Amino acid sequence: MKGLRHLGGKSATPLDQVPVDMAVPPPLLSAATVTAGYFPGVDILNACSLDVNKGELVGIVGPNGAGKSTLLKALFGLLQVRSGQVLLRGEDVTGRSAPFLVSAGVGYVPQVANVFAELSVEENLRMGVYRNPKLFDERYEKVVELFPLLAERTRQRAGLMSGGERQMVAMGRGLMMNPEVLLLDEPSAGLSPANQSAAFERIKQIHNSGVSIIIVEQNARRCLQICDRAYVLDQGRNAYEGTGRSLLADPKVVELYLGTSIRR
Ligand SMILES: Nc1ncnc2c1ncn2[C@@H]1O[C@H](COP(=O)(O)OP(=O)(O)O)[C@@H](O)[C@H]1O
Ligand SMILES: [Mg+2]
Repeated sequence: MKGLRHLGGKSATPLDQVPVDMAVPPPLLSAATVTAGYFPGVDILNACSLDVNKGELVGIVGPNGAGKSTLLKALFGLLQVRSGQVLLRGEDVTGRSAPFLVSAGVGYVPQVANVFAELSVEENLRMGVYRNPKLFDERYEKVVELFPLLAERTRQRAGLMSGGERQMVAMGRGLMMNPEVLLLDEPSAGLSPANQSAAFERIKQIHNSGVSIIIVEQNARRCLQICDRAYVLDQGRNAYEGTGRSLLADPKVVELYLGTSIRR
């Protein structure tokens, strides 16, 4: 980006003269007109598109059943993409498996069933590096710096923890994969208001530590407040997109998607 600063000025260089290495890099992860679904002939996502650039915190909001979780699954190789592409650093990774994507720097924390309830906290974290257990110590240090509670509870069974604590285990396991981009599906769902605030704080911390994030949130207003940019999905299609601030200020978006959640 820095290299292109002069382009906006009077002495702008024509784009075709910009050296290739100064050109804008491709987004870190993209869905490009992705169509996907669970049953033959029934498309849940209809030509959905989304980009996350390096360093961004990008939100996906929209009504229940809009396809938000489905879009994350399609990005993470858990659902067959029927048309369109998934691109990682500009490379086509459509149809690549979740383990491949993990090794390429993509992490995912699902909305439900995101911890192994029978396993201890430490065993859950170990699952994040199961393909390369030697990395455990180094990654563990970083994760417990963000979630000190996990270090105090290493032997506790995850299934016996509170919702807020389980969410920390799930995010901790996602971070053990050392992702460059982390996909978070409704990290605040089912948490008490205090735990929701704590979850949003931690997400900001993870983002500040250099991880790019795509976050799906039912708490749309809160999500738009912390996101750089966001997408509103409706019935599997892109409905609105923009900066969090511009969407919060858009009367149509407020009326259609935020109306009932205005609480000041
Ligand atoms: N595993 C599944 N099998 C079949 N249909 C599903 C499955 N998961 C979700 N769906 C359907 O896909 C649509 C979008 O769901 P989802 O992506 O979970 O929405 P959101 O996360 O926006 O609430 C809904 O109609 C839902 O019933
Ligand atoms: Mg969902």
